[in-house]
Amino acid sequence: MPLTLLRLLAAVLLCLMGPAHADPLRPPLLLTARTATQSLGGDWTYSKDLYRTGLTDINGWVAKSRMQRFRDVDVAQAEARGGAEFFEYDLDRGPVMQLPGAWNAAVPELRYYDGLIWFQRRFDAPPASAAVRSFLRFEAVNYRAVVHLNGREVGRHEGGFTPFVIEVTQALRERGNRLVVGVDSRHDAQSIPGEITDWDLYGGITRPVSFIQTPATFIDDATLRLTDAGRLVGEVQLDGPAAAGQPVRVHISALGLTLQARTDAQGVARLDAPAPAALQRWSPESPTLYDVRFEAGADRLRERIGFRTIAVRGAEILLNGQPVFLRGVSLHEEEFGDNPARRLDDAAARRLLAEVKQGLHGNYVRLSHYPHSEAMLRAADELGLLVWSEIPVYWTVDWDNPAVLDKAQRMQAETIYRDRNRAALILWSIGNETPVADNRTRFHAVLAETVRALDPSRLVSAALLVAREGDTLRIADPLLAQLDVVAVNTYAGWYGSDTLDAVRRLRWDVPAAKPLLFSEFGADALAGFHDPDARRKFSEEYQADYYRATLAMAATVPTLRGLSPWVLKDFRSPRREHPVYQNGWNRKGLLSETGRRKLAFDVLAEHYRQIRR
Ligand code: GCU
Repeated sequence: MPLTLLRLLAAVLLCLMGPAHADPLRPPLLLTARTATQSLGGDWTYSKDLYRTGLTDINGWVAKSRMQRFRDVDVAQAEARGGAEFFEYDLDRGPVMQLPGAWNAAVPELRYYDGLIWFQRRFDAPPASAAVRSFLRFEAVNYRAVVHLNGREVGRHEGGFTPFVIEVTQALRERGNRLVVGVDSRHDAQSIPGEITDWDLYGGITRPVSFIQTPATFIDDATLRLTDAGRLVGEVQLDGPAAAGQPVRVHISALGLTLQARTDAQGVARLDAPAPAALQRWSPESPTLYDVRFEAGADRLRERIGFRTIAVRGAEILLNGQPVFLRGVSLHEEEFGDNPARRLDDAAARRLLAEVKQGLHGNYVRLSHYPHSEAMLRAADELGLLVWSEIPVYWTVDWDNPAVLDKAQRMQAETIYRDRNRAALILWSIGNETPVADNRTRFHAVLAETVRALDPSRLVSAALLVAREGDTLRIADPLLAQLDVVAVNTYAGWYGSDTLDAVRRLRWDVPAAKPLLFSEFGADALAGFHDPDARRKFSEEYQADYYRATLAMAATVPTLRGLSPWVLKDFRSPRREHPVYQNGWNRKGLLSETGRRKLAFDVLAEHYRQIRR
């Protein structure tokens, strides 16, 4: 075969397969910071499929076509023609649900539905052309997704909290595209998290879905950050037939700065230049973000990026070279309100974070126990709150299963590739309260290596369990060696028999040369339940006393460098069923689910005001 034909074949294959990325864990497509050509939120129809008959029939047989929701068939028209064929679904005439948002909050009959539901959205697409490529970007689907467009399966994804992109250039038509997404919320022994969590089901398409069109060769990813050596480094990844050998330009007009580079054979352009003296570093006190414009060929990408450094030195956490104490709180991805649907748009995120920044005088949030919405991360960037991000390796997962480790690594990679331009994000957490055992520690050690390989610029931590001997608490955990920052969850005074006086007497035996965070402590209180005399548990008075005692104890720990008490606001949990105090809510919030501050809120706020001073 003549050489030119071989080269042509290789170019076509490269275009179809996409560039061969150096990192095997990198998602094949990212569309970082890309705005939607068309938002696919709004009215979707849906069809419940509790026994998954749209995927597999009884006896493991192939699903019957009369149940295959994803077929590109106009059921009403087919029925009008009569004949032997009949259907047991019709997504064109199904009930409607507003997406994004979890189905559990949409209608009462779905409150505790845990299984498969098919969703459909019809949409028209601008006419395709050879110079345009088309994609669907899902910001999160909890927990598994199988995506069909016009009757063809175009993609699948597992994991409830990270984005995925599907190219649909070849499957698209100009009018009436039939997008059908099978969403299965069920978790199992091989899922991450596992089957039991202390948060609600929240199944569904919980974050925005976008239809995005790009030039044939486009900027799939672009990063830029400040190094400890005072340089701006980053890379731009192109995807498409003209990805290699392409000039790339990066403009930061507020700094009068233009960087130029050329992509290599894999379509990657590397940036490395001295940071201008005029560069204002990002910090909670001064959250300076720059508009950065990336240009390559016909494509333009705009990002808002803050530049700062983070490091540990002995027991200190250094932000821009200065020791910092993290005045924070933990929170779930749940908006204020008595029927949350995980609709965390910019307004909902800012309402929650305002309570931390202005209400508590905080500078930090622990976004537990899974990657939160991109809107939350961008709001933290804009408002000036440092962030702990966590993948849901929560309690126990199948430590010995290589497929589960691979899943955790991919989840971690999807999170890092999505958020590595966020200055607010300083800590990657690789787990929460996982019981100490050899197989679990090996699992976490691989995750720590994965994080450091993907993002050497941030710190690695995990929320660990404590061991106790009498009044001494210690962290007997071999995982310590893998962590830059040690974090522990401690609940003495709530769980267990300690009185609050006993809590004040507790002492800690912790590593001297590492920063320590109290990643969780907390007590339940039903807002409005007051018991000023007996100060019983679940009263606001007890919760406030608990905070006074625990904060006094925390102040005795010399290496303590941060607090993220559990939890900003009450949140839904099927594990919490006391009919007077809980009713399906975990009540450890400093605020109620509707945003009512409890007495403990002011105890913490005053404590942080003192620390800040
Ligand atoms: C655990 C866990 C949280 C849980 C909390 C509680 O530490 O990390 O997810 O909600 O304690 O018991 O309220």
